[in-house]
Amino acid sequence: MSPFTLTRTLPADATAAALRADVAEGLTATPKRLPPKWFYDARGSELFERITELPEYYPTRAEREILADRAAEIAAATGARTLVELGSGSSEKTRHLLRALTGLRCYLPVDVSESALAQAGEALLADHPDLSVRALVADFQAGFALPGDVPGPRLLAFLGGTVGNLLPAERAAFFATASGLLAPGDALLLGTDLVKDEATLVAAYDDAQGVTAEFNKNVLHVINRELGGDLDPAAFDHVALWDADHEWIEMRLRARTDLTAKITALDLVVPFAAGEEMRTEISAKFRKERVQSELAAAGLHTRGWWTDRAGRFALSLSVRA
Ligand code: AVJ
Repeated sequence: MSPFTLTRTLPADATAAALRADVAEGLTATPKRLPPKWFYDARGSELFERITELPEYYPTRAEREILADRAAEIAAATGARTLVELGSGSSEKTRHLLRALTGLRCYLPVDVSESALAQAGEALLADHPDLSVRALVADFQAGFALPGDVPGPRLLAFLGGTVGNLLPAERAAFFATASGLLAPGDALLLGTDLVKDEATLVAAYDDAQGVTAEFNKNVLHVINRELGGDLDPAAFDHVALWDADHEWIEMRLRARTDLTAKITALDLVVPFAAGEEMRTEISAKFRKERVQSELAAAGLHTRGWWTDRAGRFALSLSVRA
């Protein structure tokens, strides 16, 4: 008998309230901006899955290669009995880790999407009938607690390079929160995309088939549906650029003409000038030294660093002091 439990730590209406606040704030700011988390409704998640299969988008394949080659080494370094995975989504890449963590008793996937958690939980239990799977519906940026009775040592995994979506101050806050969830000797496994030549980076966020452009514009569909907006996706161009000073990719939507959008649920009228750009995502790229120093600032000491053979992406293992 293997228990599967799903616990909501978010009130049912918290997501709707957060979307309203983010859109009201972002569309009245100068320059305009929207947080990347609103890409991921069912269609956005499906578009992201397609992105991971594009020839230009290397991060998912690179990270999968590391996990496939190094899971045993990573697992041995942690001896974890509990694996907590933030932003677990479909938990696809985690399967390598789950197989390698021979002493694992408890798996806690954490995601804002209840449907993704339910699906992934079912699939995992089929392969790991003795594992206790305790899914948590939570927003890791809002901060949350782990159940007190999960066995240590614990391994907290944040894969995919999603930490790159956080601004530097948000990232520092995230590392502090992550560190706070861990006891001394527990570990964090972090996926980070690495700085590389501009052409490779830009192509990964501006693919020839236009899937990333569709993904970027999906945030407009989300606002239109959830908040009664009339933003016309065809009135915007997809922009992906490398910001060499910050070492991050920035995605934007650029208005093709002067236009006015109405967001009925917010009682908001939003003017765009022709050529005006709205930031929809940053995706920071890292160097080893910066990952190590930012983790160290949160009391997390790097004990392992693995890259794919081409050196495009890294997994780091750091231990709570
Ligand atoms: C899912 C956040 C890792 O930043 O590369 C893919 C999202 N954006 N293409 C990334 C994304 C544009 C992706 N993460």
